Amino acid sequence: MTPRIGSFEEYQATYNQSVQDPEGFWSSIADTFTWKKKWDKVLEWDFRQLDVKWFVGGKLNITENCLDRHLATRPDQAAIIWEPNDPNEDTITLTYRQLHAEVCKMANALKALGAKKGDRICFYMPMVPELAIAVLACARIGAIHSVVFAGFSASALADRINDATCSMVICSDGNFRGSKKIAVKDVVDEAVANTPSIKKVLVLRRTGQAVNWDDHRDVWMHDALDGMSTECEAEEMDSEDTLFILYTSGSTGKPKGVVHSTAGYMVYTTYSFKNVFQYEDGDVYWCTADIGWITGHSYIIYGPLSAGATTVMFEGVPTFPDAGRFWEIVDKLKVNQFYTAPTAIRALMAKGDEFVEKHDLSSIKVLGSVGEPINEEAWHWYHDMVGKGKSPIVDTWWQTETGGIMISPIANSTPLKPCFATKPMPGIQPVLVDSDGNEITENEVEGLLCVKFPWPSMIRTTYGNHERAINTYFKMFDNKYFTGDAAKRDSDGNYRIIGRVDDVINVSGHRMGTAEVEDAIDQHPEVVEAAVVGYPHDIKGQGIYAYITMADNVQKDEDTIVKEIRDVVSKHIGPIAKPDKIQVVKGLPKTRSGKIMRRILRKVAEGTAGNLGDTSTLLDPSVVDDIKAGAK
Ligand code: WTA
Repeated sequence: MTPRIGSFEEYQATYNQSVQDPEGFWSSIADTFTWKKKWDKVLEWDFRQLDVKWFVGGKLNITENCLDRHLATRPDQAAIIWEPNDPNEDTITLTYRQLHAEVCKMANALKALGAKKGDRICFYMPMVPELAIAVLACARIGAIHSVVFAGFSASALADRINDATCSMVICSDGNFRGSKKIAVKDVVDEAVANTPSIKKVLVLRRTGQAVNWDDHRDVWMHDALDGMSTECEAEEMDSEDTLFILYTSGSTGKPKGVVHSTAGYMVYTTYSFKNVFQYEDGDVYWCTADIGWITGHSYIIYGPLSAGATTVMFEGVPTFPDAGRFWEIVDKLKVNQFYTAPTAIRALMAKGDEFVEKHDLSSIKVLGSVGEPINEEAWHWYHDMVGKGKSPIVDTWWQTETGGIMISPIANSTPLKPCFATKPMPGIQPVLVDSDGNEITENEVEGLLCVKFPWPSMIRTTYGNHERAINTYFKMFDNKYFTGDAAKRDSDGNYRIIGRVDDVINVSGHRMGTAEVEDAIDQHPEVVEAAVVGYPHDIKGQGIYAYITMADNVQKDEDTIVKEIRDVVSKHIGPIAKPDKIQVVKGLPKTRSGKIMRRILRKVAEGTAGNLGDTSTLLDPSVVDDIKAGAK
């Protein structure tokens, strides 16, 4: 069994050991898994070329660790408890035995449709059990999954399918979200009209709504599963074979496909899950993330299932039928570990305490936070109102690229400090550097957050473009992984994450590249130029503020333009990227060399334009007054 730390002293000893002898440390943990063949060498690495291999030569299948190995010890324990969008619909529980059978059936169905090891399979699905089943079925046969959050637009979906040349999309007819019904299959139809690699579209019937059908391409999931065997041998995978691709936004260009490999990802997500949340046998654990994001991959599916946990999956939204839904589910399922994002906490906090007080939350032992910095007010409300002052909050800092939690308290071991992610996990060696890349060793400092030693679940490449991965993460500072975040370290060595220092903004815990939003706005025929910045937003953490210039001859009123721009962004990326504020300006503040001075735009958006600093290098300083006067 994967070991679990019990006290802060034990954490410190474990941490020290993990740094002094990383290979010994990780091999003793890897030993607790099921391998078809053990590794020959624990680690080979070269950050400059981004060539990192863990458990070299090992052979395994991650689903044997998530499923088969539990059949002997916990066949009738719930593996997944699924809670539907509509509270009147039944909860579904899948035991490990049932989940194993369902995954095997699905794996056989995928094979019958022509899928095989190494193929890329795209998912565009609601949060239903079939999503977890089919993701695991891909892993069972060695196909690579690329899950796309079902809030992205057809064009964003098509880009991701084409980048990874996926051969299949798995989707549903529709999606229930709160009181809305979303036409998922229509979005997929529109996307696959522009994706030549797609051979099959596998469709789950969820809402029962009418869909268009292409007999050659589309297959109902229930038909594909019909008559399939509940046994399917797990494909033998190399430790370093790709498990999945997950697209994420960066400061430049289109979103990139972060590639994760099999063994290291499995070992790290399992170990971090068990330790951070202090999961004990019999506990019910619930992470509210969507499987379209890394949190769902690592801490709804792989980490918990590999650890033999009971993991809850929720289809709906926190405010439907009312703002007490999360707490109603905690009460109903007697959830012991609850993991959510600060944006949800802030949104629910704003709805009033009565929604929490109505429900019995005494089952909660550990509360988790992820995705963005948690502000002090939200931290205290979460701690006092939801946790009744007795449950620790694990503020977990990590990224799509890190695969698993990097800096976080270990529940009930690490002393907590509000708004601090506190200490690095065993095996993780964070460093702060100054802008020249010099390591800052003293405490009570702020710096750029890097990691100087490999960890098992780290990014291996960006799909189809290895140079891009090197340039994005390993070029900025020699021999270090650069996170894109700034952090502060206190005198006890606790880390507080300040936020991104690049052109990535974090809206409700979702990463958005400002360049990506600008490119979408530029698709509007009458927009000449757009500049996008983030600004502090009470609920979302950051909001999106867009400054645009329009062609001279445009006669439309501003409301029309604003609406059109929001629509254009929705169409090109998805509703999550719609700007909160749009300001039409005469000109953008540019230097003589043509570079937009974003610092000025950020200050105006933040409402701190009183102190703009030196603007004398601007080509036309008068645009600043116009921008300030029209600030939203
Ligand atoms: C931010 C989500 C502060 C950070 C798992 C990071 C956080 C980005 C925290 C990655 C946290 C994540 N405190 N900031 N606990 N967790 N972030 O790839 O800026 O969607 O770089 O991964 O979210 O977002 P991603």
